[in-house]
Amino acid sequence: MQPSVTVIDHPLVQHKLTLLRDRQTSTAKFRDLLREVSVLLAYEVTRDLPLTTCPIETPLAAMDAPILDGKKLCFISILRAGNGLLDGMLELIPAARVGHVGLYRDPQTLQPVEYYYKVPTDMDRRLVVVVDPMLATGHSAAAAVTRLKRDGVTNMRFLCLVASPEGVETFHAEHPDVPLYTAAVDAGLNEKAYIVPGLGDAGDRMYGTK
Ligand code: URA
Repeated sequence: MQPSVTVIDHPLVQHKLTLLRDRQTSTAKFRDLLREVSVLLAYEVTRDLPLTTCPIETPLAAMDAPILDGKKLCFISILRAGNGLLDGMLELIPAARVGHVGLYRDPQTLQPVEYYYKVPTDMDRRLVVVVDPMLATGHSAAAAVTRLKRDGVTNMRFLCLVASPEGVETFHAEHPDVPLYTAAVDAGLNEKAYIVPGLGDAGDRMYGTK
């Protein structure tokens, strides 16, 4: 299977990403921008959702009108920065279900350890969009997707704002069947596994920690 990477190059997304990258952008403004850009990201990640039709009556005539097919979508936030994308995505798709996955890296084994996992039911019959603003090393994203697959999820996409080439490679080495959506693939990772140029630590910038 050929792994798929979609770079969302919509001018509004690129403009807002530049403002998010800027170190001068305040915490409050960063949160606003993240919510705004996530509406646009949600629009792009759902661009090819299947439609069916249902009979309705407009004030003038009866018609078979297009409507989303299948069960409600599910968004999975990778804690904690994934939460910054949820509000905007839910603004666009209010009926979506939401789950959370928390992972940390064991300093000894370097393996991802799950500390939180709460997801909706019927995941195997939903399109699941896993979200995290930054795809850096790709290890926690890949671990979260592995965990969701263990729960029977088969129809999944991964959505981020900024990816590194290393993250894309690691993620797709494990999950070539999961399409990636991102607004940018940056130059690479630094020695602390931050994306360069990136935007810094997304969680810290969202919440004003650090
Ligand atoms: N997580 C972040 O928030 N930023 C990075 O650059 C890498 C990981």
